[in-house]
Amino acid sequence: MSEPEGFHPPPYPYDRLDDLRKQAASLPGGAVDLSIGTPCDPPPAAVVAALGDSGAERGYPPSTGTAAYRAAAAGWLARRFGVTVDPDQVAACVGTKEFVASVPQYLRLRTPGRDTVLYPAISYPTYAMGATLTGCRAVAYDDLAGIADADADRALCLWVNSPVNPTGDLIDLPAAAAWGRERGVPVLSDECYIEFTWDGPGRTILAAGSDGVVAVHSLSKRSNLAGARAGFYAGDESLVHYLSEVRKHAGFMVPGPVQAAAVAAFGDDAHVDEQRERYRRRLALMTAALAAIGVACPAPRGAFYLWVLAPGGDAWALAGRLAAEGGAVVSPGEFYGPAGSGHVRIAVVQPDERIALVAQRLGTPTGDFPHAGPPAT
Ligand SMILES: Cc1ncc(COP(=O)(O)O)c(C=O)c1O
Repeated sequence: MSEPEGFHPPPYPYDRLDDLRKQAASLPGGAVDLSIGTPCDPPPAAVVAALGDSGAERGYPPSTGTAAYRAAAAGWLARRFGVTVDPDQVAACVGTKEFVASVPQYLRLRTPGRDTVLYPAISYPTYAMGATLTGCRAVAYDDLAGIADADADRALCLWVNSPVNPTGDLIDLPAAAAWGRERGVPVLSDECYIEFTWDGPGRTILAAGSDGVVAVHSLSKRSNLAGARAGFYAGDESLVHYLSEVRKHAGFMVPGPVQAAAVAAFGDDAHVDEQRERYRRRLALMTAALAAIGVACPAPRGAFYLWVLAPGGDAWALAGRLAAEGGAVVSPGEFYGPAGSGHVRIAVVQPDERIALVAQRLGTPTGDFPHAGPPAT
C-alpha cells in the first residue's frame, strides 16, 4: 500500500534517546534513566490489594466513574486543597494523557466554529498533539498577555499546567481562569503534579471557582499508579457533563478494579507525604551532582524535574556528557517545544541509591549525599 498523504506520527521523543541509553548502559552499574517521568516507588499495599479483591472485574464499569470514585476524588480535593465540587462535577478518565489528547475533538463537536488549542510554549507535548490529532490548530503562547485576539476568538480551550512539566514553575491559575472567563474560552488546568510543591501548598484552579474551568488530575504521580491508569476531570458542570456524555459513547472506561484501588488511593495521604520527601531528597542529590560538574540549576517550585540550562545552550552536548560520565539518561528540552531547546530536563524518578551512583560518577563529594537511603522495594 502506498504511504498516506496526510499526517505521519513523528518519532516518539523518548525513542530518540536510544544512543544515549546505550552509552549510559556501558558504564559499570548500568544506565540510570532520568528521562521519562515514570514513578519507580511502590503504591500503598492497600491500593494494590484492592486491584485483586474488588470483585469489580465482571461487569462493565461506569464510564464516568463509580459514585465511590467520584466521591473519593471530590473528597480529596476538599481535604487537601479546600475546594468543594459536587461529585456530579467530577468524571473519570483513563489516566490523563488520553483525556489531554482527545479533548479537542470533543470540544470541537461542541463548538464547531472554533478550531484552535492554545498551549504553553514550553510544555508536555500532548497538548499540541491533541490539536494535531483532531486536525485543529495548535497555537503556543509564552504568556497570556501575548495571545492574539484572533487566536483567542478561535480557541476551543486554553491549556495551563501547574506545577509545570518540564520547568518546575508554579503559575498564576486565578489569572488563567479570569482570562478564559473574559473571553469565553474554557480553561483546562493540568494539575497532575499538585501534590509535589516545594514553595507553599498545592494550588488548583478550582479555588477560583469552577465556572468555565476544568481541572485535570491523575493518580499516576500522586500515588505511583501510572500503570493502573486512573484520573479525573472536575469543574464547570456543563463542560464536565458534555465531555462525560460523549466519552461514554466513545467507550472510555477506567477498569472496575482500578476504580476500586483509586478510591483507596484518594483516601490516603500518608503515602504521598512519604513520596514527597523522596522527591525532595532526590532533587537535592541531583542538584549537588550537577554542581560537581559546574552546572548550576535553580530549585524547582514544584514537580520532580530539574530544568537545567545547558552550558552554551547545547542541550544534546549536556545530555551526552551526563550519559557518558554519569550514566544518566536525560531529556533534551526540545522535547517540550522549540523554546525549551537550550535546556535539559532531569526527572528524579530513580531510587536514591541510583541517583547517588550518578552523583558519585560525576565526582560529587560524598558528604553531599549522606542520606542516599535504602534501596526502594
Ligand atoms: C503534565 C502532564 N500531564 C499529563 C501527564 C499524563 O499522565 P497520566 O496519563 O499518567 O495521567 C503527564 C505525564 O507525564 C504529564 O507530565
